[in-house]
Amino acid sequence: MLDNKGFDLWSDHYDETVEIHDNDNAYPFAGYNKILNAIYNCILENSSKNVLDIGFGTATLTLKLYEKGCNIYGQDFSDKMIELAKKKMPNAKLYKGDFSIGLVEELKKRKYDAIIATYALHHLTDKKKVDFIKELLLLNKGCVIYIGDIAFQTRNDLEKCKEKYQEHWDNEEIYFVYDEIKKEFKNSEFIPYSECAGIIKIW
Ligand SMILES: C[S@@+](CC[C@H](N)C(=O)[O-])C[C@H]1O[C@@H](n2cnc3c(N)ncnc32)[C@H](O)[C@@H]1O
Repeated sequence: MLDNKGFDLWSDHYDETVEIHDNDNAYPFAGYNKILNAIYNCILENSSKNVLDIGFGTATLTLKLYEKGCNIYGQDFSDKMIELAKKKMPNAKLYKGDFSIGLVEELKKRKYDAIIATYALHHLTDKKKVDFIKELLLLNKGCVIYIGDIAFQTRNDLEKCKEKYQEHWDNEEIYFVYDEIKKEFKNSEFIPYSECAGIIKIW
């Protein structure tokens, strides 16, 4: 599993890696652009003004929302990613912090209309994912959380994908299986966008 230094190193060619895999329609980034576009459209349609991005990376999605006038808040643990994102969005409130131990205090003080986490939460165990998402919901009654990530409806779907991409499969990442977490979130849905990814919407 990549730590913050690993993401520092990846930051310069992250966008390129994603594009290659998405264009090939292959694991792990098949569906990436469609997912980011769909979340972007939902946020604008709902007129969400204050948006928190967990693991914003190179700010591919948040920059577009920033340009549309959203107030952007974010947390990431990679200095390089933060540096890149700050250059693109000078007025965004971006904080360094490891989300495996929760939100940084500055971000807990505010309320958000929408919270987004794209291709970031698969670094947490399933228990930590659920606990973290519940913490976010508790702090932000009425907000919508959009998780765009490598994700599957069922464990069987995940196993089929793992078999297909066995040479490339990252055994250290822990992907969402919606059927296994949906009981924790009464108001939620899963929308698949490729054989290996989709959006989990929770409100
Ligand atoms: C694969 S990138 C995704 C970036 C962006 N959200 C996107 O969709 O392209 C994952 C991001 O999450 C951050 N990240 C991973 N684990 C983290 C953690 N435990 N705490 C804070 N940030 C983390 C990384 O630094 C990186 O910027």
